[in-house]
Amino acid sequence: MNKRMLLSASALLATAALALSGCSSERGGGGSGDSTGSSATSTGFEAGSTIGVALPDKTSENWVLAGNLFKQGLEKAGYKADVQYAPASNTVAEQQNQIQAMVTGGAKVIIIGAKDGRQLGTQVQAAKDAGATVIAYDRLIENTEAVDYYVAFDNFQVGQLQGQALLDGLAERSDGKAPYNIELFSGSTDDANSAVFFNGAMDVLQPKIDDGTLVVGSGQTDIQQTATAGWKAENAQSRMDTLLTATYSNQDLDGVLSPNDTLARAVLTSVEQAGKPLPVVTGQDSEVESVRSILEGKQYSTINKDTTLLVEQSIKMVDQLQKGEKVDVNDTEQYDNGAKVVPAYLLDPVIVTKKNAAEAYQNVPNLLEIVKEYQ
Ligand code: BGC
Repeated sequence: MNKRMLLSASALLATAALALSGCSSERGGGGSGDSTGSSATSTGFEAGSTIGVALPDKTSENWVLAGNLFKQGLEKAGYKADVQYAPASNTVAEQQNQIQAMVTGGAKVIIIGAKDGRQLGTQVQAAKDAGATVIAYDRLIENTEAVDYYVAFDNFQVGQLQGQALLDGLAERSDGKAPYNIELFSGSTDDANSAVFFNGAMDVLQPKIDDGTLVVGSGQTDIQQTATAGWKAENAQSRMDTLLTATYSNQDLDGVLSPNDTLARAVLTSVEQAGKPLPVVTGQDSEVESVRSILEGKQYSTINKDTTLLVEQSIKMVDQLQKGEKVDVNDTEQYDNGAKVVPAYLLDPVIVTKKNAAEAYQNVPNLLEIVKEYQ
């Protein structure tokens, strides 16, 4: 079952509700470059206003980079930037407080990388009531109508690319000698992206599990069983330790679906410490340490989701809102948050392996430098 099927029933209801309210989600169509306006923001707002950016804890490099780029980019564009991170402890409550403070402080747009996308309903409603526009950044905010836009890399496609990379890596490294023993890892269940990544990957992997090409040794194929609380490396590492002891004392583990780089490295550490041959492991985010690992032939793949492009697109949305223009979106179908289909601007993720790293990072100078070191 894929994400589209999971969401289709509520999408239908939401589309009907939008049509009744005269604000058809179909107006913008689904094709790239289409756009849809937002009546609530058509009047624009004063240049130099405050823009709030609320980001989650810094579990991956991309969040750290995003904070810096938002601050620089918004200030360069003449706005006052209020960029906040939710600290690692008590993150949800802290993020709720930070968003509330942005509303009280008069932010005109609030961009949110949610810590827990299901627990921000009150705060985003307060933002709407105060006349602010809410943009969900990278992670969807769920079960509320008070989110105006979503800007992200296509998460389902990320999962599909990971699933395909796992198959490709297995075929390459194991000379095509199926069946392959694999294990599956997914992200934190409080992040809406986790299920989308997993469903995207399973869209590719499930048929190969069904036809016997892949064997999930532990039998753990359910997202609850494969989840990694808080996206924390130590949780993935200890689950891998347990799986190795329980299932792989007498056989090799050939591949692991890992949803991101932090967890990929945790999985590889666990296998290395157990003294077993390294499996094919996928990732996401192009973290420096993982890019090095790929170039050294350890981690198999990652995904390039260029944070610079995502932040640029978000600031473009802010500019359009400020001028009272239509906001560019290119997807008005996929992201049903349970209360509405959120108009989205989705960017294309790029798969990266040792083979295509130089090409994949041609516009990412610091990573291209690293690739050159290994050539
Ligand atoms: C992001 C990933 C990231 C993960 C953990 C997800 O929502 O899309 O890029 O690896 O969170 O921070």
